[in-house]
Parts: sequence; C-alpha cells; structure tokens
Amino acid sequence: MAPRLVVVAVLLLAAPLCSLAQAVKDDDNTLYAGVAHVNATLPLGVPLAGYNHGDRRVPYWPIPNNTAYTTFMTPSVGVMDDTNVRCLALRQGNTRAFIVTADAIGADGTLRKLAVVEAQRMGSNATLETVTLHASHSHSGPGAVSPSFLWAMAPATDLLVPELQFQLAVSIGQAIVMAEKAMVPASLGVDISLLPNVTVNRRAKISPYLQPDSIDPNLGVIRVDDLKGNPLATIWNFAIHGTCFGPDNMKVSSDIMGGVNNLLVKNGGVGVTMFINADAGDIDPAPQTCQGKPNYNGAPTIANAIIKTRKAIKPSANATFRIASEVVPFGPTNLNVTLQRFENCTSGGPLDICTLCEVIHCDLNLHLGSSWIENAPRFTAIRFDVDGSKTLMVTMPGEPLSELGTEVRIDGVGLGFDRVLLAGYSNNHMGYFATPDEYDIGGYESQLTFWGIDTSKKVRDACRNIGAKVIN
Ligand SMILES: *[C@@H]1O[C@H](CO)[C@@H](O)[C@H](O)[C@H]1NC(C)=O
Ligand SMILES: *[C@@H]1O[C@H](CO)[C@@H](O)[C@H](O)[C@H]1NC(C)=O
Ligand SMILES: *[C@@H]1O[C@H](CO)[C@@H](O)[C@H](O)[C@H]1NC(C)=O
Ligand SMILES: *[C@@H]1O[C@H](CO)[C@@H](O)[C@H](O)[C@H]1NC(C)=O
Ligand SMILES: *[C@@H]1O[C@H](CO)[C@@H](O)[C@H](O)[C@H]1NC(C)=O
Ligand SMILES: *[C@@H]1O[C@H](CO)[C@@H](O)[C@H](O)[C@H]1NC(C)=O
Ligand SMILES: *[C@@H]1O[C@H](CO)[C@@H](O)[C@H](O)[C@H]1NC(C)=O
Repeated sequence: MAPRLVVVAVLLLAAPLCSLAQAVKDDDNTLYAGVAHVNATLPLGVPLAGYNHGDRRVPYWPIPNNTAYTTFMTPSVGVMDDTNVRCLALRQGNTRAFIVTADAIGADGTLRKLAVVEAQRMGSNATLETVTLHASHSHSGPGAVSPSFLWAMAPATDLLVPELQFQLAVSIGQAIVMAEKAMVPASLGVDISLLPNVTVNRRAKISPYLQPDSIDPNLGVIRVDDLKGNPLATIWNFAIHGTCFGPDNMKVSSDIMGGVNNLLVKNGGVGVTMFINADAGDIDPAPQTCQGKPNYNGAPTIANAIIKTRKAIKPSANATFRIASEVVPFGPTNLNVTLQRFENCTSGGPLDICTLCEVIHCDLNLHLGSSWIENAPRFTAIRFDVDGSKTLMVTMPGEPLSELGTEVRIDGVGLGFDRVLLAGYSNNHMGYFATPDEYDIGGYESQLTFWGIDTSKKVRDACRNIGAKVIN
C-alpha cells in the first residue's frame, strides 16, 4: 500500500555552504532557514471535512453508505485546488523549529505524531516538541485522517481511513525533511498590521456583546529571506473561517486562504507562502470577500496587505528564536447537553445534538474520553527576537473565539512580549473555545465548546504558561 506521492517543489536556492567560515559562524548563532512545499492531494473520493449537513452527509445518516473512503459522508468528486503541505524549518545552534501548514479543517494530533515518525525515519531531526502543525481551516479539505470518533460520527470528518492518514503523514514528513535539507543562513523579521473589512463576526446576531465588526484585524507576517535578500518564505497569520465554499461544494478546495496563497505565488517575490489561522472561532469571511469564488473578490485585498506588510519588514540576520512545548491534559469533556443550552438550536446543526436530544430528552453532562475527542493538547510557544523586539507565537488546539484571542494577546504583552501571533487550529483539534459570556449565550460555538464554561480559561492559562517559558 505504498502511498503515491507527488512532490512538487523543493528547495529554493543552493545547498548550504560548507566552508570553514560557515562552520565557525554556525557556532556563532547563525540563523538557518529552509522551506518546502509538497503536493499532498489525496485520491479522488476522499470525504471533504468541514460540514456535517447538505450534500456532504449520506441521505440516511447514521446509516452508512460505504465507498472506498467514505462511510457517513459522500465522496468528493473533483479537485479545485491541490491540498498543500508546507514547512519552514529553522535552526540556530541546537535549537530547531519546524512550522508546518496544511490545507485542512483541523490539526489532528495523531496525524502530527505519525508525521514526526515519518520525518525521523527519513533522517529528520524533528521531534514532537519542535514541530507545530497548523491547519488552515478550509471547510473543503481532506477528511478520513482523524481517529476522533466525535468528528467522525458528526459526521464532520468521517471515519478514519488509515491508508489516507498514512499518505498525508508521509507528505508532512517529506515537507519537514525537505525544508530541513534546504536550510541556508537566513534573515527574519516579524510585524503585525491591521486588516479590517474583509471579515465579520458571525455571532453578532446572537451575542449582545458583539457587532459584525467585532473581528480580530491583526495580520501577522513573518518574513524570511536568504542573506542576499531573496525571499524564502512568508507566513501570514489572520483570523478567518475557510467557509467561502459551503456544503454543496464537493470538490477539494483550500478556500479563501488558498486563493490568497495562489495570488501571492502568482505575484511572486514572497517565497513559499504559508497561512496560519488565528482566533477565528466566530470570524467568517465577509460576504463580499467570498464573492466571485474561486476568484475570491477579497483575495487581492488580503494579498496586497500581506505584500505591503512584508515589504515594510526589515529582516535581520541577527534574529534569534526560542521554542518551548508541553502537553496539557484537559481530562474528559464536560459536555453539558442539558436541553436549556440548546433552546434555539436547529436540527442539522452541530452534531445534530438538537434532534438527538428531542428524541432522548437529554439532560446530562457527557464526559467523553480521548477516543471521542483529543483531550491532551500540546501547546507550543516560539519566541522571535529581532532588533530588540520580542514576538510570541503561541499555538491553540482548536477554534478560539476572538474574545479569547484578545485575552491571550493581553497576557502575552503582560509577560513582556512586544507582539503576539495567535496560532489557532494548531497541533490538535478540540472544537471551539467560547469565553464564559459567550458560552452562556449559547449558539453553535457554545454547543461545540466541550469542557464547559471554563474551557477558554484552560486554553488561556496554558498559553500564558508556555509563553512564560520562553520569555525568561
Ligand atoms: C497534485 O497531486 C494530485 C494527486 O496526485 C494530482 O492530480 C495533481 O495534478 C498534482 N498537482 C500538481 C500541480 O502537480
Ligand atoms: C450510496 O452512495 C452512492 C454513491 O455515492 C449513491 O449513488 C447512492 O445513491 C447512495 N445510496 C443511498 C441509499 O444513499
Ligand atoms: C540532523 O542533524 C544532524 C546533526 O546536526 C545532521 O548531520 C543531519 O543532516 C540533520 N538531518 C537533516 C535531514 O538535515
Ligand atoms: C471599511 O469599510 C467601510 C464601508 O465600506 C468604510 O467606510 C471604512 O472606511 C472601511 N474601513 C477601513 C479601515 O478601510
Ligand atoms: C448545564 O447548563 C445549564 C443551562 O445553562 C446549567 O443550568 C447547568 O448548571 C449546566 N450544568 C453543568 C454541569 O455545567
Ligand atoms: C543582535 O541581537 C542581540 C539580541 O537581540 C542584540 O543584543 C545585539 O545588539 C544585536 N547585534 C547587532 C549587530 O544588531
Ligand atoms: C433564543 O432566542 C431568543 C430570541 O432570539 C433569545 O432571547 C434567547 O436568548 C436565545 N437563547 C439562547 C440559549 O440562545
């Protein structure tokens, strides 16, 4: 069952210099960076992860209707965009970081572990502590690659197909090794600009605390160049749901964020582009942003903002980075399915709990274990120091609402960082993280907040703790 993999692009530029001077400089804290891009498109017929209704679900769910790769979902019928996996590898002395992005709904922890094993098998120095996996949150990316039974049955991802999971893990492993082998002395810079008007807060209609423009406008950009000033990579970090395409789309797509990446590549001059989503739990693309899809009207606005921000950054060869990572057990869920919490739910909604509860008159608190949903997430913090300015990038294992994002940014500044990049949808996928006020208000994001009213506090505390490990 050897996976068929097509590796598209590899390294930019020549192999690292091996001169004595280089070796001496190496001891001297030289920053090395390498990037790689792998076409990780899975075979036709893979279920598309993201929606559990409409055309995505089999007509008589939960009665299965099996195909080669699907059980509770319908098979995909084509490919609009390839599923890409990209890696930025960084090394300075013995410190390493492997930042991996994927066109996918969520960052499954099991997939990440398999990918690290595959990377190591191919000779990589990557470890669980040094690899971060960031899902774009496209709602039309590959399913069947996560063992979490809750997502499988929802059905938002469908049942695990080990063959597909392995194929994707190998692609991620390849991207890691290729990026590592492509490392050259590099310069790096980070900045944040503001990008209003392309997103909206979708809870504005149910939450008295929110307006449509209660969004997170922060557009973080990490610029990586070689020492001649040639672009190696551009990471952009922004809060936006990958929901331009709805459940009626049956073709693999990287959605709006992929549209922006394609545009950036077409324009050139930015190296390999990588997207890291942020606190997008309640942030949708604005309707005008999606218009014209797959030539999204909003894509040029976003791409231009990224290019402008990148240009303004002065990358430094004297940049340094540090990384810390730890697993934080959340324990079984506190999934309160008391009917009061589902007052306004519509059937066909999240996990269809509403229909289910009407039938069985739910009034219970479900304590689901790790076979249902991941419950021991890995939090990773990367600190970048550029010209005396300190940036924290911190991972969050699911979908933070923008209010939680604001809290984590404030905590980061409190710790002494000059700026904070929120890496949502990273390392694991544990649903939404609604803040207590939004949890009480209810609605979709609240119902999919699985550890009760304190869920967002658990995430916030873990972000602060891991951030503190790289500040001192
Ligand atoms: C990416 O891989 C898929 C599946 O193997 C293939 O159909 C597609 O042509 C590839 N894309 C490119 C640009 O090579
Ligand atoms: C089962 O799936 C096949 C292929 O997707 C479809 O043609 C057929 O109508 C489905 N049957 C039922 C009963 O849903
Ligand atoms: C892993 O590290 C060792 C020791 O620094 C090095 O020789 C090897 O090339 C590295 N692996 C890759 C894939 O770069
Ligand atoms: C956002 O859009 C509104 C309405 O189109 C416009 O009035 C406003 O100036 C825009 N804001 C920014 C910062 O571009
Ligand atoms: C469940 O939700 C209801 C309604 O919001 C609340 O009264 C109850 O205290 C909650 N139970 C738990 C265990 O959180
Ligand atoms: C290099 O960076 C360090 C730490 O940020 C700083 O102390 C030092 O002054 C920088 N050196 C140069 C030449 O910019
Ligand atoms: C249900 O909807 C009503 C009317 O829109 C609103 O007042 C109430 O707060 C909602 N309840 C929940 C739990 O969302």
